Amino acid sequence: MLTAPLHLIRKEVRGERAYRVPTDANAAAKLDQNESPLDLPEEVKRELVECYVAANWNRYPEDRPHELIAALADRLGHPKDGIIVGHGSNEIVHTIGLAMMGNGVPIVLPHPMFALYESVARMHGSHVVAVDPAGPHFGHNADDILNAALESNATLTVVTTPNNPTGQIIPFEGLERIAAGAPGFVLIDEAYVEFVEGPTADTLIKDHPNVLVMRTFSKAMGLAGLRLAYLLGTPEVIQEIEKARLPFLVDRGCEAIALALLDRTDLVANCVTMLKSECNRVLTELALRSEIETIPSAANFFLMRTPLAVADLCEKMAGQSIRIRNVTAYRALAPSHDERGWVRVSIGTPEQNTAFLAALDMVLAETPAGIPSDL
Ligand SMILES: Cc1ncc(COP(=O)(O)O)c(C=O)c1O
Repeated sequence: MLTAPLHLIRKEVRGERAYRVPTDANAAAKLDQNESPLDLPEEVKRELVECYVAANWNRYPEDRPHELIAALADRLGHPKDGIIVGHGSNEIVHTIGLAMMGNGVPIVLPHPMFALYESVARMHGSHVVAVDPAGPHFGHNADDILNAALESNATLTVVTTPNNPTGQIIPFEGLERIAAGAPGFVLIDEAYVEFVEGPTADTLIKDHPNVLVMRTFSKAMGLAGLRLAYLLGTPEVIQEIEKARLPFLVDRGCEAIALALLDRTDLVANCVTMLKSECNRVLTELALRSEIETIPSAANFFLMRTPLAVADLCEKMAGQSIRIRNVTAYRALAPSHDERGWVRVSIGTPEQNTAFLAALDMVLAETPAGIPSDL
């Protein structure tokens, strides 16, 4: 065969763009993926190495990481059978897709929101019901989401709080209303839960068995490089979703390091305190610059726009070894007829944030005033 039979690949898949993040792991300030800027201390890392040395590499790991599931169950006060530990939230989203999505199945997705959900829904041929943001900060109104779920008779409604890329939250009462009123499942993505105070969504599961809660080790917990996340639900629901999941995805090393980290709550708490205080500092500094607009955020990142075209801004900042994220692919955050588009900036260490502010001042000072070129 001279040409590959590409037409045999499902059109829903061919129609997608592969997920790529053009980044630079060695940037002086890598502020483009909402990761923790702090690596784990060496003694914690050594536990991982020890575990790999002790393990039999010729043997499969457990089909599911039972020790980690037991430790999470213990800490969260949630039944073991109601927990799936996955190889990152991305993998869990695919599992949920396989379990619940399908041709024409209505899925409610507020936008802008972490783009993987929409891509997975489209690949399953699902009917994506978008919910527009309400107000200038791109937050969402719980009743708008609930109405969309009711009107479309949604199989699944996804809510992210705090939301990426906006940093906005949906108050707990709003989550409760959605959980109580939605006709189908409600997935609450709490990837940034460590940054907010108050009741968390897992407490809804007991009274609302349609609720699923997903959390990741990639953000405040600082393990983006290892790939671990978990899903909470009632044992009955989790048992069914489990059937759609590939076994053996969490290896022994990942499990050991996560267990070690769960015992070091001080590390995560210190990181969160530092990032919250730095987020305040950076936003206060930026408020002094009249040409810069920012949106306050409940998480470890924020949205910003400047008089510079977004692609230019990101490129010039990259030239100073500062990576920030162009989020104009989200339609609400794209440039409009008279406004620039937005960038998302993650909070780094104090030094990285200071370098970000200095580079931004320099890049903006170099830019001639006048009509923006991308409008
Ligand atoms: C809201 C949200 N959910 C999930 C993820 C992915 O997390 P993971 O690293 O666990 O795949 C991200 C990553 O940016 C996110 O912002």
